[in-house]
Amino acid sequence: MKNGRNGFTRPVLTASTALLTAMRLLAIETSCDETSAAVVHDGVVRSNVVSSQVRLHAEYGGVVPELAAREHLRNLMTVVGLALREARTDAGELEAVAATRGPGLPGALLIGMRAAQAMAFALRRPFLGVHHHEAHLYSPWVEGDPPRARFDRFQPNVSLIVSGGHTLLVYVEAELQHRVLGSTVDDAAGECFDKVGKMLGLPYPAGAHIERLAAEGNARAFDFPRPMLQEPSDDFSFSGLKTAVRYFLRDHPEALNDRRVVCDLCASVQAAIVEVLVTKTLRAAQRLGVRCVTASGGVTRNRALRDALASACAGAGLELRLAVPELCTDNAAMIGVLAERKLLRHGGAADFDLEIAPGWALG
Ligand code: KG4
Ligand code: ZN
Repeated sequence: MKNGRNGFTRPVLTASTALLTAMRLLAIETSCDETSAAVVHDGVVRSNVVSSQVRLHAEYGGVVPELAAREHLRNLMTVVGLALREARTDAGELEAVAATRGPGLPGALLIGMRAAQAMAFALRRPFLGVHHHEAHLYSPWVEGDPPRARFDRFQPNVSLIVSGGHTLLVYVEAELQHRVLGSTVDDAAGECFDKVGKMLGLPYPAGAHIERLAAEGNARAFDFPRPMLQEPSDDFSFSGLKTAVRYFLRDHPEALNDRRVVCDLCASVQAAIVEVLVTKTLRAAQRLGVRCVTASGGVTRNRALRDALASACAGAGLELRLAVPELCTDNAAMIGVLAERKLLRHGGAADFDLEIAPGWALG
C-alpha cells in the first residue's frame, strides 16, 4: 500500500500480463454524445451497448457539453449493467477496466473515466486510459459475427478517420505504431455535413439526411470547390466548401423551397467531400507504398464514401478495410479491443491518478 497523490491509501497494482493471451475487460466510452460500454475478451466483442444522446442535442442543433455530461451521468451505470449482462459476465470476472481518456468534452470524459477508474480500484484490477482516435484507427480490423479483432490480418496501412470533430489521415506503420500525416485545418468533414445540413434546415446531425437526399440529386448540378485537393500536403480544409453553399443560398434563398435543388445541393456537396477524402487518402497510400487503406469514424457510414473508396482501392490494387457501420460511430467496443491489445503487450498499471486529456493529440 502507498499513499495516493490525494493522500488516501490505495493498493499499488500492476498486472503481470506477460503470460496472458487474453483478458476479459470492460470498456467505457463517453467522449462526446454516446454513452457506451462493452465487454471484450480475446479480441471478441462480447457486448457493445450504445446509448445515443442524438435526440437530446438535436433540439439545440449541436452537442451541448453540459447536457452531454449530465446524460452520461444519468445513463452510464445502466449501460454498464446491460453490457455485463449481455456478455454474461459478472463484474468480479473482469480482469481489467478501460475508458476513453481523450480527446473529447472534459465533463463527458470525466464521467466515463472516473467511473472506470473507480470500478478498477474496487475490483483491484488494472485500468487503462485509451486515446479515442487510436481506437478508431484499429476498428476496421474488427469483423464478423460476433465481431472479432483480426490483428492476425494486420498490415501497414494509411487510415482515414472522419468524424464530426476530426478529419485525420494516419500512417499506421506497424501495430500500435502510427504517425499522423495530416488533419483538417478548419472544419472536419462531418462538421461540414452538419453545417451545410443546418443551412438546408435538416436535423442535427445532418450527415445521414444529406446522404438520403443526395441519392435523389445530381452530383454534377453544382461545381463546389474541392479544398486543398491539389496541394501536396495531407491536410484537409472544408470551411470553403461550407461557405460556397452559404453564398449560394444567400443569392438564391428560393432554392430552399425547391426539393429538387436541395437534393442537387446535397449530392454536389457530398460529391465534393467524398472526392477530397478519397483522392487524398489514395495519394498518401501510394506515396508511402502501403498495400492497404482503412477508414473509420461517423462519416464512414456514408455509402457514397464507402463505394468511392472501394472503387478507388480496387483500381489501385489496394486492400480496403472499412469499419463496419455499427463501429463507425462512437462505441466502447473499439476502446476495449485496443485496450486488451495494449494490456497484453505492455501490461497495465492501475493508474487511478491518471487525468482526462480533452485535447490529447494522436501520436
Ligand atoms: O464519429 P462520430 O459518431 O462522432 C464524432 O466523434 O464526431 O461522427 C459523427 C459525424 C456527424 O458529423 C454526422 O453527421 C456524420 O458523422 N455522419 C455522416 C453519416 N452518418 C453520420 N456523414 C455522412 N453520411 C452519413 N451517412
Ligand atoms: Zn469518434
